[in-house]
Amino acid sequence: MSEPVFVAFATQKGGAGKSTLTALTASCLHYLDGVEVMVIDCDDRQHSFKDYRDKDVVVTQENPYLKRAMFNFYKKFKGKPYEILLTNPAEAAQVAVDRLEEGADPKVVFFDITGTINDPAIVRLLAVMDYLFVPISTDTADMKSSIRFASHVVNQMVTTGQTKIKSVNLVWNRIPSKAKTTLCDLIDKYMEELGLHSLDTVLSSSARFFKDGAVSGKTGLFRSTMMPPDRQLLKGSNLPELVREIRETIKV
Ligand SMILES: Nc1ncnc2c1ncn2[C@@H]1O[C@H](COP(=O)(O)OP(=O)(O)OP(=O)(O)O)[C@@H](O)[C@H]1O
Ligand SMILES: [Mg+2]
Repeated sequence: MSEPVFVAFATQKGGAGKSTLTALTASCLHYLDGVEVMVIDCDDRQHSFKDYRDKDVVVTQENPYLKRAMFNFYKKFKGKPYEILLTNPAEAAQVAVDRLEEGADPKVVFFDITGTINDPAIVRLLAVMDYLFVPISTDTADMKSSIRFASHVVNQMVTTGQTKIKSVNLVWNRIPSKAKTTLCDLIDKYMEELGLHSLDTVLSSSARFFKDGAVSGKTGLFRSTMMPPDRQLLKGSNLPELVREIRETIKV
């Protein structure tokens, strides 16, 4: 059993895409790349992953098109859906360690964390992550919030050497297509001066991120915790590029 890497998408800003990017990355790794993952949902204010999994179960039972897609996928995949453990920030690290000691053997453990740096339990949890990914958008208030969060983690936590964190990477998400090359490039240069690094991949604002299934219709799933993103919806999403960059970063 090799030690898994602990990964979190984190930022103060609510609605930045932390849970969505966690689910998409986890599912691509587990269901497309064959890299076993586990998710610790420590956002005890809303437990988004419980909602995602519950919805997955409903739509793949009720919608005949998705039921068939699920059947066909598991015929080839052979493995199981990844485990989702529900807890809170104070207990999350221990819950993961306990599960590993019980025999779970994921290569990556994702922690879905609520967004605040004012809670000491969250700061302690962030400190035991190996890698942090900070979603950032081009909306001015969101951008400031993500830069402030990443700077705080780098300057107050990483450089003091009191954390396991090996790198903090910003991830452009929810970007209107026109802003892609101009604004992101400009802000990347500014962030570099602050010692902050962003991944090359930019995720657009796109309706596919809402596609997590309905009880009828023939639209595939993009964000699912039980299946990989639908192949048609993956096209042009830049998600495979993001996952490749994340794998390079976390060395998995
Ligand atoms: N690239 C995108 N394009 C369009 N919608 C997106 C994109 N990324 C995320 N969203 C949507 O934004 C909303 C908020 O995302 P999500 O719940 O993942 O954010 P969060 O950071 O986890 O929020 P919270 O702080 O409440 O936990 C969701 O409805 C999600 O589908
Ligand atoms: Mg969330």
